[in-house]
Amino acid sequence: MSSKIFVISRLIFTYFLVAECARVKRVVGGYDVPCGTFKNVASLRNASLQQICGAIIISPDFALTAAHCVHGNSNFTLSFNNYCIGSEDTYPTAQVLDIITHPQYDKASSAHDISVLRISHNLSDVSWLNDTILPSFSFGITGECTIYGYGYKDVSEQVSEILVAAKVFILSLDQCIQLLGQYVAPLRDSGMICASGGNSDTCQGDSGGPLMCDGRLQGISSYGLACGLAGVPGVYVSIGPHLNWIRNITNIL
Ligand SMILES: *[C@@H]1O[C@H](CO)[C@@H](O)[C@H](O)[C@H]1NC(C)=O
Ligand SMILES: *[C@@H]1O[C@H](CO)[C@@H](O)[C@H](O)[C@H]1NC(C)=O
Ligand SMILES: *[C@@H]1O[C@H](CO)[C@@H](O)[C@H](O)[C@H]1NC(C)=O
Ligand SMILES: *[C@@H]1O[C@H](CO)[C@@H](O)[C@H](O)[C@H]1NC(C)=O
Ligand SMILES: *[C@@H]1O[C@H](CO)[C@@H](O)[C@H](O)[C@H]1NC(C)=O
Repeated sequence: MSSKIFVISRLIFTYFLVAECARVKRVVGGYDVPCGTFKNVASLRNASLQQICGAIIISPDFALTAAHCVHGNSNFTLSFNNYCIGSEDTYPTAQVLDIITHPQYDKASSAHDISVLRISHNLSDVSWLNDTILPSFSFGITGECTIYGYGYKDVSEQVSEILVAAKVFILSLDQCIQLLGQYVAPLRDSGMICASGGNSDTCQGDSGGPLMCDGRLQGISSYGLACGLAGVPGVYVSIGPHLNWIRNITNIL
């Protein structure tokens, strides 16, 4: 597993990762998401209120993120930057009250890199927020999907306050192993999937953000080798194999 040292998680944590990623644009062929059109995607901030990852709110009480984003700490805040706010206002936020990490999460292989966050929010209106974002089926996702994040956008090495999206295509695990190599590609039965968008990709700061297919949440951004290199897929937690676990914790049907 020594090849894993080349893997770049989508968490912002050391300077060399910043330098590594700065050479590639975060989302080539991507676009800014107009405010108010995908309010579920939050920026995950640590105790210094620095953005470190993304997260997605799935009910008034729960959000999902990548396990490696919240590993080893407990004081996190979500900021709902896709809200449309006036210039005098600040974004609505949520405090993370509890972190429930998947029991089979493995830091070394990134298997089951998913945590459920129990939250307390100050959103004034949650009528738009319901459980329809979770998929109703588990397996066999193919075709075009969309990734969302507030991660590095360009060479400025600044995380984006504006939500950015890009199109990607789901790869089979065999294709992924072929492209990433067996030591970097996810293990079989590790609950992970790969997606590639030519030059579109997730990058540092995008971990924990959603992969949406046909309006349903099918993945959570986990890791990759680099950002936006053609033919180098990104790796995502697959929601399908974790649906029963998520539902058991959240009571979302
Ligand atoms: C929050 O994240 C930033 C960026 O990675 C880091 O410099 C800072 O030390 C972190 N703060 C805490 C309290 O973990
Ligand atoms: C968590 O971090 C926030 C922001 O830095 C701080 O105000 C708060 O006191 C911290 N809470 C705990 C329990 O440490
Ligand atoms: C939500 O709480 C944050 C502080 O955590 C504050 O800055 C913001 O103004 C609050 N938003 C609303 C809508 O109350
Ligand atoms: C929530 O449910 C309503 C129907 O009850 C639907 O129109 C709306 O699109 C749903 N919102 C989301 C964010 O899925
Ligand atoms: C659901 O959660 C309970 C604990 O809250 C646990 O005992 C049970 O095994 C879980 N079931 C599944 C299917 O994960």
